[in-house]
Amino acid sequence: MKKTIYITRKLPGEIVDKLSSQFHVKMWSEENVPVPRDVLLKEIEEVDGLICLLTEKIDEEVLSKAKQLQVISNIAVGYNNIDIQTATDRGMIVTNTPGVLTETTADLTFALLMAAARRVVEGSDYLRSGEWGAWSLMQMTGQDIYGATLGIIGLGRIGEALVKRAHGFDMNVLYHNRTRKLEKEEQLGIHYREMRDLLQQSDFVCLLLPYSPEVHHLIGKDELSLMKKDAILINTARGGIVDEEALYHSLKDGEIWGAGLDVFEQEPVSLDHPLLSLPNVVTLPHIGSASVKTRMKMAHLASDNMLSVLTGGEALTPVNTKK
Ligand code: GLV
Repeated sequence: MKKTIYITRKLPGEIVDKLSSQFHVKMWSEENVPVPRDVLLKEIEEVDGLICLLTEKIDEEVLSKAKQLQVISNIAVGYNNIDIQTATDRGMIVTNTPGVLTETTADLTFALLMAAARRVVEGSDYLRSGEWGAWSLMQMTGQDIYGATLGIIGLGRIGEALVKRAHGFDMNVLYHNRTRKLEKEEQLGIHYREMRDLLQQSDFVCLLLPYSPEVHHLIGKDELSLMKKDAILINTARGGIVDEEALYHSLKDGEIWGAGLDVFEQEPVSLDHPLLSLPNVVTLPHIGSASVKTRMKMAHLASDNMLSVLTGGEALTPVNTKK
């Protein structure tokens, strides 16, 4: 008998066709609306596999309803939406989509850095508002990128890919990571710094570490106050790493110069969020990996993980090991 999988969002036809050749596929019918919690809680009961997005909270409550779930395949590299410990305790394999999104996410991180530094979005809004009366010397002046110091917090695949972009701009690259990577320092020409030193010395601070409760509000009032007054904070990781209230005050009071945010603690971010009222913040709707090709590669990798595990093979990119 064919195994059954549930997909929490409408996926492109070629992905569904591939999965349907092996499984009985059930899928939430909407492309842009997440599956309601009560539907998920019901659907999870009888399925062998779940393909989900980062918008679904796969917590203890969901997992406790699953009678025969063997694999959870997340279409994202981050998996903080899934209770990994409970899934592991219940003998479920969890997979993610690393590697395929590295370069695309590094591109977006650098784009956000450039947009914030050179006031690209603000400048465009200014022109369209009709306020542009004349060219003037200090109008819309931003910060230099070329030759500046970039501090990367979290040197994983995406951090390393960002270094390559930074080198094209002759940037001096510092990094902080839980474990120091001596080989990478040599290979990439980058320098390790303690967190405090990195914050004090960098013109740009890019957050590229995975979210876990240990790094909740890693960047708060004290950390922001260490940064240079003309520094820019870029977050393309997870919103919860930054204390948004502290960031708002720091930007408003001129303690730091600007920010580029692709992620927020609550997504979608509310339109009356204070950070959205500031001109010196560039905001994006969590699109780090959003190129057509990369999103398709992520969907294929997630479905290949499902196909492999449910047909008796190994997960291609597991985040846990089966108990
Ligand atoms: C996106 O944020 C991802 O984790 O893939």
